[in-house]
Amino acid sequence: MTLVNGIEADAVSVQDRGLSYGDGLFETLAVADGLPIAWEPHISRLRNGCQRLRIPCPAEALLRAEATRVCAGLTLGVLKIIVTRGANGRGYRIPEVVNPTRILTTYPWPAFPGSRAREGVLVTVCQTRLSANPRLAGIKHLNRLEQVLARSEWDSHHYAEGLMLDAADRVVEGTMSNLFLVMDGQLVTPDLADAGVAGIMRGLVLAEAPALDMSVRVASVSLEDLRRAEELFLCNSLFGVWPIKGLDGQAYRVGPLALRLRQRLLAQGCIAAQE
Ligand SMILES: Cc1ncc(COP(=O)(O)O)c(C=O)c1O
Repeated sequence: MTLVNGIEADAVSVQDRGLSYGDGLFETLAVADGLPIAWEPHISRLRNGCQRLRIPCPAEALLRAEATRVCAGLTLGVLKIIVTRGANGRGYRIPEVVNPTRILTTYPWPAFPGSRAREGVLVTVCQTRLSANPRLAGIKHLNRLEQVLARSEWDSHHYAEGLMLDAADRVVEGTMSNLFLVMDGQLVTPDLADAGVAGIMRGLVLAEAPALDMSVRVASVSLEDLRRAEELFLCNSLFGVWPIKGLDGQAYRVGPLALRLRQRLLAQGCIAAQE
């Protein structure tokens, strides 16, 4: 089911700024037994994104009521929430009165092979670069052409994900996920001050690490750091945590840390049990 501004529909205005300019934000949540997982952090990222783009954020109670409607009866699936700056005539200028468009829709659960979580995945480094823009970094805005181009760089099921660098050769994230490294016994994840999406699962992993006696560091990460890393893993709100077993020919041990983190987040209900 899809709700557009609370009404069952499957279309928006051709004047919508989300369509014209990518002028909006989105959230993708796992749904289990009719309930969106990690609702609060997703809504808080949406609220923060709205503040930064100066889009009036729909009230949480309204979003919650609509999410409950669209997710009803969904045993396992995906909820997507889109908020745009709404429809107005041509031109970039922000109109004085903004009536945001909100879209809530569900999708079937993506059929990830269970082996990816248990045995790890192969990844490649993409040629497409992320541009640096502190004003957009961290938020999940609708401009995703860099990810679209990066994802078109491989076609086979051989690779589960591609890593993206910025123009200064810093490793930022995957096309649809965030990256963690274990280096010198410490958990490291790329700094997202200039580019990248501050993933909800990344936040959950960072919060969980101290319970596993891991110290964490948010830092600039190079390809050389990846080569030196003892363990690598990816995370996002749908697949949870995937260890990386190979990066462009270099093999990695399928790390105990990624598997332990995954178990803990599964037990806490932060990852949908899919197998
Ligand atoms: C570019 C990008 N980075 C990171 C993530 C991970 O974010 P989250 O943990 O909120 O799913 C996503 C998720 O789709 C993404 O598209």
